[in-house]
Amino acid sequence: MNPVFEIAGVAGGYDEVDILKGVDLHVLPGEIVTIAGTNGAGKSTIIKAAMGLLPHVRGAVRFEQRDITHARVQARLDAGIGYVPQVANVFASLSVHDNLLVMQGVRDAKRRAESMYEMFPALARHRKRRAGALSGGERQQLAFARALMRAPRMMLLDEPTAALSPALVDEIFAYVVKLPAAGTAVLMVEQRARQSLAISQRGYIIDQGSVAMQGDAQALLNDPAAADLFIGRH
Ligand SMILES: Nc1ncnc2c1ncn2[C@@H]1O[C@H](COP(=O)(O)OP(=O)(O)OP(=O)(O)O)[C@@H](O)[C@H]1O
Ligand SMILES: [Mg+2]
Repeated sequence: MNPVFEIAGVAGGYDEVDILKGVDLHVLPGEIVTIAGTNGAGKSTIIKAAMGLLPHVRGAVRFEQRDITHARVQARLDAGIGYVPQVANVFASLSVHDNLLVMQGVRDAKRRAESMYEMFPALARHRKRRAGALSGGERQQLAFARALMRAPRMMLLDEPTAALSPALVDEIFAYVVKLPAAGTAVLMVEQRARQSLAISQRGYIIDQGSVAMQGDAQALLNDPAAADLFIGRH
């Protein structure tokens, strides 16, 4: 099976200093894949390289066999990649509903928004509220729903559960689990590596800008050396 998404030998960073030192990873259709690792390991930097947000990138990024290494962010979104950044981005002054409807390139946007409300009941209750007045968890759900409006075939999530209460964390993971069946593969960075690996097929553990370990998610969960790397050495 060909990967839906692939990072091959990607090195680079924000200036002349390489943060990433040759990262290889891929996501197969229908997969949920976790990227774990301690703070500062380079997880968000990998997602930025994947989205075209990293100033200096060598190597290759491919989506559905097409080279997108140097494509603009908007071109990647248009091609079918969804992205939820570590800090949720919504239009604070727009209502929840308008935040969904302003997404470009959505066919049948109103009906699609209704299906988002079914998935996220909290958003349905607050559809007329300004996004800036939402709680952190609700705002995160809105960022997620915005990305899903375009039915991406690949979803890049950078800590989708950061700053959420435990109940909401479970909810977000419950949504993530449903994505492959809807035709969306997932590459997800998570601080909550155990929970994230538990819903993933495979995982990569990043250490100092390189892939330190990779493999079957269950095997990583059972490997004390892996736990040491994603929980951190104390
Ligand atoms: N905008 C930036 N400019 C320069 N260096 C940066 C920038 N953003 C991150 N870095 C550096 O790149 C390295 C990796 O950071 P990155 O954000 O990828 O880590 P992370 O694994 O996502 O960590 P966390 O778990 O804390 O989110 C760190 O040393 C960080 O200081
Ligand atoms: Mg990060």
